[in-house]
Amino acid sequence: MSARRRLGARWRRRRPLRTRLALAAAAAVALVAVGVCVAAFLVIRYKLYQQLDQNLTQSATLIAQQRNFDDEPGVVTGECRYLGAPACSQIVPADPADDPAKPYLLPVAASTREVAKGQAAPYYTSLTLHGRPTRMYTTHYGKGDAVQVALRADIAERGVRQAAGLLSAVGGAGVLLSGLGGYWVSRTGLAPVARLTATAERIAATRDARHRIELPPGPPGGEDEVTRLAASFNAMLAELEKSVTAQRRLVADASHELRTPLTALRTNAELLARADRLTDTQRERASGALARQLREVTGMVNDLIELARDEEPQPLLEEVRLAPLVAHVVDAARGHWPQVPFTLHVTPDAEALSFPGVPARLSRLVTNLVDNAAKFSPPGTPVEVSLSPAGLTVRDHGPGIAAEDLPYVFDRFYRAEKARALPGSGLGLAMARQIAHAHGAELTAEGAPGGGALFRLTPPG
Ligand SMILES: Nc1ncnc2c1ncn2[C@@H]1O[C@H](COP(=O)(O)OP(=O)(O)OP(=O)(O)O)[C@@H](O)[C@H]1O
Ligand SMILES: [Mg+2]
Repeated sequence: MSARRRLGARWRRRRPLRTRLALAAAAAVALVAVGVCVAAFLVIRYKLYQQLDQNLTQSATLIAQQRNFDDEPGVVTGECRYLGAPACSQIVPADPADDPAKPYLLPVAASTREVAKGQAAPYYTSLTLHGRPTRMYTTHYGKGDAVQVALRADIAERGVRQAAGLLSAVGGAGVLLSGLGGYWVSRTGLAPVARLTATAERIAATRDARHRIELPPGPPGGEDEVTRLAASFNAMLAELEKSVTAQRRLVADASHELRTPLTALRTNAELLARADRLTDTQRERASGALARQLREVTGMVNDLIELARDEEPQPLLEEVRLAPLVAHVVDAARGHWPQVPFTLHVTPDAEALSFPGVPARLSRLVTNLVDNAAKFSPPGTPVEVSLSPAGLTVRDHGPGIAAEDLPYVFDRFYRAEKARALPGSGLGLAMARQIAHAHGAELTAEGAPGGGALFRLTPPG
């Protein structure tokens, strides 16, 4: 890295963004202010001297018109000493041998002789005469002489000095104002960023995702980029808070729900530890109960893990066709529940029904619905699964769901009074709805006409 870039990098690291923005804005405005002042100064100076030079040219022409070319060289007019007679002129021959006895007023140089000989072009000079600023014009005259005309340049010089002073003051004020402006721009422009930073820092320090960034009032859609960033930051915080709360509730629910089966497990295990004091029947019953409870707890823990996993970012979605997926699930259920007759009806226009999703999760959803229907069906009554473009329905002829239970069946660990005798932990429907929502689909429960429960999965769109 070059030394300059390293210096730049260190500068960026040390200064906060606000200072850098203030300095950059101020520098840009200051540069323009100073540039304009310098340009104005140059124009004023040029104009003042141009006027002076025009006067000198006119005087030289006048001398050429009014005088005889045979005149002796030497001083023509004036002294250039007093403001009352600010002009003076002299004629200089090409050859120094022809110089008059009296001294010249204005300085004569080799270049003057060259102009007299016609070898050089006329020119202007700025010089100091009798301690005063003077402007002089040297041009060809007659048959081999040069005429030099001079004018005191006090007024032009004073004008230039005054312009310099005034423009310096204006430029200085401009630089000062640009500094203030830069500071103001960076303060107001970066205020939302400062709020965002403060909130992010507060969250990092307190680990509390309930904080939000204050947004300026105004209609949505008309915000600037920083406000939009703050709004999406707030949205992200809301999601984070929701997910943290959900995880916390899941852990709380799980630990609460696991306590009962674990206590029963421990009781049975302690009972079996004193197996020598039990009769054979007692021992068998205890070990049977232990095995069943172990299965239940294992199932519950597996479901919990699945529920928790569903809140992680989804793996890549693929286009899932529902008809083959449902057929596969129903086939598997037939193996599981041999005493339950399953019917599957797919309307022709639903054969190609598909939406983006994760196949394994969707089969889990359908399996949970079909398993419930089979579990709650009296033996021999059918479970009807049908797929149409409107969605999937799973219907059984069991006891159905009581109206007071309907709002709760999708809650974690919720089991209706009548269902408590059957195996299960109350996680199946919670998981099913979670999967449905993750896919943008809707899952609802209702009482089927003529008795039994009816679950309806409506695909997204
Ligand atoms: N087809 C159904 N008929 C009647 N009640 C049902 C039906 N499906 C679900 N329910 C009621 O909803 C409750 C929750 O169902 P869910 O599938 O979440 O839990 P579960 O089947 O009891 O246990 P798990 O599915 O975790 O093994 C059930 O306990 C039951 O009361
Ligand atoms: Mg279930």
